[in-house]
Amino acid sequence: MEIRFADCSVRYGDTVALQPLDLTLTERRIGVIGLNGSGKTTFVRAINGLVKPSRGRVTVNGLDTVEDGPAVLSKVGFIFQNPQNQLILPIVADDIALGLKSRGLATSAVAARVEAVLARFDIAHLARRRVHALSGGETQLVAMASVLVTEPDILILDEPTNQLDLKNRKRVIDTLAGLPEAAIVVSHDLSLIESFARVLLFHEGRLIADGAPVDVVKAYEAVALC
Ligand SMILES: Nc1ncnc2c1ncn2[C@@H]1O[C@H](COP(=O)(O)OP(=O)(O)O)[C@@H](O)[C@H]1O
Ligand SMILES: [Mg+2]
Repeated sequence: MEIRFADCSVRYGDTVALQPLDLTLTERRIGVIGLNGSGKTTFVRAINGLVKPSRGRVTVNGLDTVEDGPAVLSKVGFIFQNPQNQLILPIVADDIALGLKSRGLATSAVAARVEAVLARFDIAHLARRRVHALSGGETQLVAMASVLVTEPDILILDEPTNQLDLKNRKRVIDTLAGLPEAAIVVSHDLSLIESFARVLLFHEGRLIADGAPVDVVKAYEAVALC
């Protein structure tokens, strides 16, 4: 996996949400931290093309997020900050199947892959449940299953433990730890990222620290407490 930002900046009108950035990411677990409004979501959305650079470019395994948008979207799965917003169909199994059906897979192949992903996440008992009646932790797991069933190479999670109680937080962390896919995780939950290979700290749209978790968390404490 290689994600490359080349002189990439992002503006929303007059707001510069991401200052010009040159960066290459190849690690299997990357954390993204920073205060509210520091540009974390903008940064990760730029990786799968949900946000377009105002200047420069972003590539994922050589594919440009603007020129090769659909190919990038199929390689980079994204779990939103509010995962309930990405569950579209009323029943869990139907929602998980949706991404596969839209890729033209045969009905029997879709059913087999849905069953496998439900088993992988240990949520087979949720298959016929209504998505809007799930708990926060269940919603997070179903959203992960819906994305991973399409077999992306990279998974991005934007604050995956934010709305969860301690039990569900542990469940999501354990599930994340077992994923063979590369993952980029935005989090205020510093214990979640402490074992990661690399952590990025954003402050006012700028990448201000990049390295081992322990060092970057120290830099975060310094900016947060001043
Ligand atoms: N769609 C948008 N339109 C205008 N401004 C935005 C939009 N999304 C984010 N911003 C602004 O860009 C900055 C960075 O936001 P964001 O990337 O969401 O930060 P974070 O995820 O770290 O909280 C903030 O000042 C925010 O208000
Ligand atoms: Mg955010």
